[in-house]
Amino acid sequence: METKRLSKALAAAGIASRRACEEIIFEGRVKVNGQVIKVPQTQVNWESDQIKVDEVLVTSEQKKVYYILNKPTGYLCTNVRPGKRPIVLDLFADTERLFTVGRLDRDTTGLLLVTNDGHFANKVIHPSSNVIKEYLVKTLQEIESHHLETLAEGARVDEKWVKPVSVTKIRRGNFKICVKEGKKHEVRIIAERAGLKIVELTRIRIGGLQLGTLPVGEYRRLTEREHKLIFEPHG
Ligand code: URA
Repeated sequence: METKRLSKALAAAGIASRRACEEIIFEGRVKVNGQVIKVPQTQVNWESDQIKVDEVLVTSEQKKVYYILNKPTGYLCTNVRPGKRPIVLDLFADTERLFTVGRLDRDTTGLLLVTNDGHFANKVIHPSSNVIKEYLVKTLQEIESHHLETLAEGARVDEKWVKPVSVTKIRRGNFKICVKEGKKHEVRIIAERAGLKIVELTRIRIGGLQLGTLPVGEYRRLTEREHKLIFEPHG
């Protein structure tokens, strides 16, 4: 069997996305043949090397699982617990090496995918996949046409200009926004530039997959059909 970079091997085994695997390695949580390895480029071979993450043996084959969750407010999207604050994975009975596909802010609710499949996560997150994420936004102010014009222009997020795919007012103090980037705080930053204060932010769609009626705080396995829907163009 060929050798692979450690970070790539861990992502392929479903530990986390490639970048998150690099972080796990930098944190000193990975051992190869009993030695802590902090260099993601280290070459490994599944046949001859024993690889452990947090002292748990990793194998190249792992049953892949995919969940849809309606994230409640107050939960953080991270695998490393920051103090006593609750994390999304606390909601799951059996964590099976799960991680969230991208992140929602602590106060954002709605559709979050949770999996142990690093390839799947990368595909959903990467802008080249053109998977559009739709958010429902409730604002403190009434939304005027000048707000909508500024929202549609987008904003600078993380050194890059993010322009929404669409912005639509639904009713007083509520609009929908579609983006494909997935950058941290992007919707909040775009709204702030338009002079709007967000009081509620909910993700309602990823690709062709709708949040639907799943109650807040609940999750279930994705059906095969739903899995495919994520990558189907929609609206
Ligand atoms: N954009 C944000 O600003 N926050 C989120 O949680 C998701 C998208």
